[in-house]
Amino acid sequence: MAENIHPIFDRILSRSDKESFLNQSAKVIWFTGLSGSGKSTIAEAVEKKLFQEGFFVQLLDGDNIRTGICNNLGFSLEDRNENIRRISEVSKLFKNAGVICLNSFVSPTEEIRNLAETIIGKEDLIQVYVNAPLELCEARDVKGLYKKARAGEIKGFTGIDSPFEAPANPDIEIKTGEMSVEEACQMVYDKIIKRIRKV
Ligand code: ADX
Repeated sequence: MAENIHPIFDRILSRSDKESFLNQSAKVIWFTGLSGSGKSTIAEAVEKKLFQEGFFVQLLDGDNIRTGICNNLGFSLEDRNENIRRISEVSKLFKNAGVICLNSFVSPTEEIRNLAETIIGKEDLIQVYVNAPLELCEARDVKGLYKKARAGEIKGFTGIDSPFEAPANPDIEIKTGEMSVEEACQMVYDKIIKRIRKV
């Protein structure tokens, strides 16, 4: 019967329809760490590698979030909570559309990361701790922000006068002081591939 040829159109499309279409399992891969730890560099490398392998991915970072949906937020702990809440809700939409979402945000406290986990769901969140010592981030000072924070020109800077609590049980930990971007990218890839490949 004709109405049985395309049964998928008879009902609302689900996440799993979209995952089948994209031939992948959607997950949110969340990179946390100090400013200058190398989060975005690694997240960008992983995004590119996954895309080259045929995965459909979206990277979220300060460039596309803090200039847009979160452009009214600053860096008080309250604003950071709201920043992460909105990012988590956006990630959840991507996830439910079958897309693999890579997030690169300082996400400095346990409370903030727990909020993300509650919104996204433990099963769908892979937490990557990009662990670089403060001294290293500060010595690199890619954006010149640590210098400004030390000079008191920026108040409430993570690691200087605002807290960073290391995640207690990350799924993946990368010590960027001890490995190259390529090695870090490969390590993340090796640990996530089983969870994003459609079985
Ligand atoms: S989060 O704490 O809310 O997760 P987010 O990752 O969005 O922070 O933004 C952090 C980036 O904003 C840093 O990498 C840095 O470039 C910039 N920044 C500006 N002011 C601050 C600040 N006070 N603390 C930390 N990062 C800051």
